[in-house]
Amino acid sequence: MADKVKIGVLISGRGSNMAALVYAAKYPDCPFEVVLVASNDPDAAGLAFAEAEGIATFSRSHKGMKRAEFDAIIDAELRKAGVEYVALAGYMRLLSAEFVTSWADRMINIHPSLLPKYKGLDTHARAIEAGDRFGGCSVHVVTPELDDGPVLGQLPVAILPGDTPDTLAARVLIAEHQLYSRVLADFVTRESRPEWLLEKVRALALGLPEATEKLSHGTPAFHIAGGKFFAYFSHDHHGDSITSVLVKTTGPEEQAMLIDADPDIYYKPPYLGPSGWVGMRLDGGDVDWAHVEERLTASWRMVAPKKLAAFF
Ligand code: GRF
Repeated sequence: MADKVKIGVLISGRGSNMAALVYAAKYPDCPFEVVLVASNDPDAAGLAFAEAEGIATFSRSHKGMKRAEFDAIIDAELRKAGVEYVALAGYMRLLSAEFVTSWADRMINIHPSLLPKYKGLDTHARAIEAGDRFGGCSVHVVTPELDDGPVLGQLPVAILPGDTPDTLAARVLIAEHQLYSRVLADFVTRESRPEWLLEKVRALALGLPEATEKLSHGTPAFHIAGGKFFAYFSHDHHGDSITSVLVKTTGPEEQAMLIDADPDIYYKPPYLGPSGWVGMRLDGGDVDWAHVEERLTASWRMVAPKKLAAFF
């Protein structure tokens, strides 16, 4: 198996979710490993657990420090440890915008409610108080708003007659321990799933003015409404096992230049290659999506009616 994806876990206390991730990572086929556990409380019980498991730890009290200043220290520790994704597990600190931005789409959190219900604290008491039949937990992408990012996975937990916030929390915690490692494993391997890559390309392509989608020879293809194609998603075309997006270039010169400059990414696709299209591979991992967006936009411009292109 390829190298495991390196995870940094941030905790503030008990760290039972962190422990669940650590144990899950011990399965040989788990795609991630926990390389650093960091805490804003040097007395967090989870730190001793991580140390005993042979995982590097870092702790520093945030007291008396500005939020961004403290987050920069944590950020530096994560980078030093080679962390690729961050998992928040009971990290009781609001994060600075700088920190959230620098880990955008690479940081997830577990929250003890069925989001979007009950963001913030006292989730179980609020669910019981509201007479809900289910409490539960959610794992979501971290965005600047508290507990607000896209939900990646959830587990409902039935509320029993006579449940108190504590008894419900204890059962939700069992569900949390099941959910977190599964969702994290899916999240860090998403770029190897063609369906996920297609969703990503689709969102970018359909974000362009007047763009629509239709199947062309069995392939999702994007064109200007009533007009020409500017992108094709290609997966395992005639068994080539490549996942890519095909875009237009200005002609054979630009096509050759791109392939020459970056042969790991660009290639001349069969059929459309001779008319100046280029394939951009999406299956190499670590796709530069800003670059894909640029190429899609350039391709769109080449086929857009002048009036439309002028306004974009
Ligand atoms: C969990 O309930 C988690 O959902 C919430 O904080 C609690 C942390 O517990 N964000 P632990 O430290 O993982 O045991």
